[in-house]
Amino acid sequence: MGFTNSMGELSARDFQTIRQIVYDSIGVNLTEAKKALVVSRLSKRLRELKMQTFAQYFRFLHSSPTETEVMFNYLTTNVTRFFREEHHFEYLCHEYLPYCELQAKEGFGKKDIKAWSAGCSTGEEPYTLAMVLQDYFRGKGGWTVNILASDVNTAVLEKAATGVYTKQEIEGIPYNYLKRYFKMGAGSNAGYFKTKKVLRDIVDFRRLNLVSPAKYPAAGSLNMIFCRNVFIYFDRETRREILERFQRCLLPGGLLFLGHSESINTLDGRNGCWRVLRHTIYEKIS
Ligand SMILES: C[S@@+](CC[C@H](N)C(=O)[O-])C[C@H]1O[C@@H](n2cnc3c(N)ncnc32)[C@H](O)[C@@H]1O
Repeated sequence: MGFTNSMGELSARDFQTIRQIVYDSIGVNLTEAKKALVVSRLSKRLRELKMQTFAQYFRFLHSSPTETEVMFNYLTTNVTRFFREEHHFEYLCHEYLPYCELQAKEGFGKKDIKAWSAGCSTGEEPYTLAMVLQDYFRGKGGWTVNILASDVNTAVLEKAATGVYTKQEIEGIPYNYLKRYFKMGAGSNAGYFKTKKVLRDIVDFRRLNLVSPAKYPAAGSLNMIFCRNVFIYFDRETRREILERFQRCLLPGGLLFLGHSESINTLDGRNGCWRVLRHTIYEKIS
């Protein structure tokens, strides 16, 4: 059955075409139940292009080499917030980071923390991580922190790189962090808050498609990966493949953080590469 709105009908065949392109390119599994959402999101793009019908848009999509990526920007779900799933950051501060310090003190580890926020959306997750890590190592000489923040959606990455947020968006940030790591806008920027350079300097935003093995960080290079509320959009096989690549990127003992409704329990191979530390926190054991 076709789905109609003011832009005319999105036929079952055209919906199937979109589903296939999105699945093959970025792994997002648009089920039949998402059809109304697809129509509503693509309608915005049609209005922007001043097009009247989906048929017109399809001709444009097939003839414009850059439109597919733009379409992904409209179809991905980018909900996020600062200090989301706070227990992950508490685990870092109370368990993992003290352990790293101890390792470094005993000469087993470097004073160097490398993290990856995979599916970082508009930046709230990597900047939260940046604040927590920066704060933890403040005054403890010699530590360096680097965060790779990636997404497939170029529009969210653009916003993330500016580091500018509204009053509503910064609501979840504890006051002491806000005071230390954000500048309040004045004049025409009143009502906006911008991350300080000390945060922006340690976060590197990059477009990276998790479905494509190219551009993944080097093997054994990372202490932790945050990939939260991203696996829910993928099917089992895609999740399994990504998990294998994550495992390669982490150092032994490195951590993987997933979203509250996600798990790898049925994806781990027979030899068991992961240990569950807490709900949605996993350690690479081999
Ligand atoms: C719901 S947001 C999660 C944001 C953040 N991790 C959090 O938990 O608050 C999901 C993000 O995954 C991104 N995403 C979806 N498919 C992707 C892919 N194949 N590669 C990289 N990012 C992808 C989306 O663009 C979106 O920004």
